[in-house]
Amino acid sequence: MTHSDHPPFFWALIPAAGIGSRMRADRPKQYLQLVDKTIIEHTLNCFLDHPQLRGIVVSLAEHDPYWHALPCAGDARIVRADGGAERADSVLNGLLKLTELGARDHDWVLVHDAARPNLSRADLDLLLSELADDPVGGLLAVPALDTLKRAGADGRVQSTVDRSTIWQALTPQMFRVGELQRAMADALIAGVVVTDEASAIEWSGKSPRLVEGRSDNIKVTRPEDLLSLSRLWLHRT
Ligand code: CTP
Ligand code: MG
Repeated sequence: MTHSDHPPFFWALIPAAGIGSRMRADRPKQYLQLVDKTIIEHTLNCFLDHPQLRGIVVSLAEHDPYWHALPCAGDARIVRADGGAERADSVLNGLLKLTELGARDHDWVLVHDAARPNLSRADLDLLLSELADDPVGGLLAVPALDTLKRAGADGRVQSTVDRSTIWQALTPQMFRVGELQRAMADALIAGVVVTDEASAIEWSGKSPRLVEGRSDNIKVTRPEDLLSLSRLWLHRT
């Protein structure tokens, strides 16, 4: 039986097991409030009612004391996986959970940071439609806008980088479940650091496609990111 007998399903995987050290808050940043809900609730809402998605897995830290207090903890559409020491470990555990749920090698998985609550439905739909027939998969990204400098060890500018070919990687990143699992597991065994799914796929010798998305799909990393998103959301509602 060939792949074409079974059109691929789409799954979402949300790594949410980080501690948010750069945010310097009293709890992991995914549990901070953004206007009316926590960041992770907004993020999950981007996916929950999407008609093309077969299921959602969220990777959580082992002794996470915050998740169970959220209404979405009781939502049958969301399945928990264990997080790991690095983001890549949390993603790998989530991929294993997807396989347990029945995801097949050639199904698509969209991996999206829990700390990225401002993904628009239009960008999600764009990624799905642009990549559904792609042989490799790819990611949302934005072209670099600022002038880029390469720094020397002395903290001075060494050179100006040609920004015309530089893109900033965002999420979701969409790849085949089996290929991503193998690429990430192999990278881990080889001791290669992969900070996103695309870098694992690149390391396996393939070239992910860049799909231009919105620049306001930001990852909340530092306090000022939450401040600017809060302003954006308050202005919107
Ligand atoms: N993440 C994860 N497991 C880890 C580390 C990170 O699931 N061991 C998740 C985070 O929860 C976040 C996403 O990966 O949703 C992106 O990571 P990042 O922005 O680096 O989050 P943190 O690692 O939590 O933050 P920091 O690096 O500032 O500590
Ligand atoms: Mg981190």
